[in-house]
Amino acid sequence: MPARILDGAAAGAAIRAELKPRVDALHARVGRPPGLGIVLAGHDPGSEIYVRNKLRTAGDAGIRAELIRVAAEAPVGEVLATVAALNARDDIDGILVQSPLPAGMGDDAETRVIDAIDPAKDVDGFTPVNAGLLVQNRPGLVACTPSGVIELLDRSGIEIKGARAVIIGRSDIVGKPMALLLLHRHATVTICHSRTQDLPGVARTADILVAAIGKPAFVTPDFVKPGAVVIDVGINPVSDEARVRAWFPPESPRLAAFARHGTLTVGDVHPAVAEVAGAITPVPGGVGPLTIAMLLANTVRAAEARLRT
Ligand code: GUN
Repeated sequence: MPARILDGAAAGAAIRAELKPRVDALHARVGRPPGLGIVLAGHDPGSEIYVRNKLRTAGDAGIRAELIRVAAEAPVGEVLATVAALNARDDIDGILVQSPLPAGMGDDAETRVIDAIDPAKDVDGFTPVNAGLLVQNRPGLVACTPSGVIELLDRSGIEIKGARAVIIGRSDIVGKPMALLLLHRHATVTICHSRTQDLPGVARTADILVAAIGKPAFVTPDFVKPGAVVIDVGINPVSDEARVRAWFPPESPRLAAFARHGTLTVGDVHPAVAEVAGAITPVPGGVGPLTIAMLLANTVRAAEARLRT
């Protein structure tokens, strides 16, 4: 029996609808909407799409999102100065610097920029202060994609307590915070990575399997215990037709979409996993809409905390 599809678009819309009265109440109380500053350096095509979606969705939710562009050739100091200005502005409650930064800004640019963000406005949850608060299960701003996954599991009625959870990927922005959130909800958690031995075997122990590695169709059916919940965090643009044809059956509408656009966004999970899993998130329409919804939720939380009387 094919897996139940976990509808991230519906869950994201529900979260945004729940935020609306809080946005309206805050706006009425302080005379301005919550403010989100988004910094985009350069013109990475993926980032352009993400940022456009964030701006539009924030506006629809009554949040005033402001885009500040920095030239691709600019030194990292210009991003740091932009962040400092946003830190100082009273009408800005949340700050997001879109990743990746242009390579020319240096290997340590991302770290320097994250360190410059006021933790009270860190709506990505990437600063060491917020990451540390999460380790200790104390209130703070939590990275949007992993907190969105928890929301989706909860709203889908999937029990986390006592479950065996396996996360493939150990990034600071998804894998590690995902592991901590699942641990705090009393799952038994394993983090896997590129040096893990017998990765499919470890993954097969999971009741909840989270794939966050950035490799299209990497997680094949042999990674999945029958009936497991599979969360696909991958958003991988693929333009190699032979690969796309190998992954999807000839009648799949995804092949028609590839033919139209010459590119296709593919998750980290192979489409055939849907025949083994009990429940699975689609790409697109799974985790992605939750990430944006949680960004807005973090912005509202940051605004409420800053403007508490
Ligand atoms: N680039 C891809 N995903 C993200 C994200 O969640 N936050 C930021 N700042 N950049 C990203």
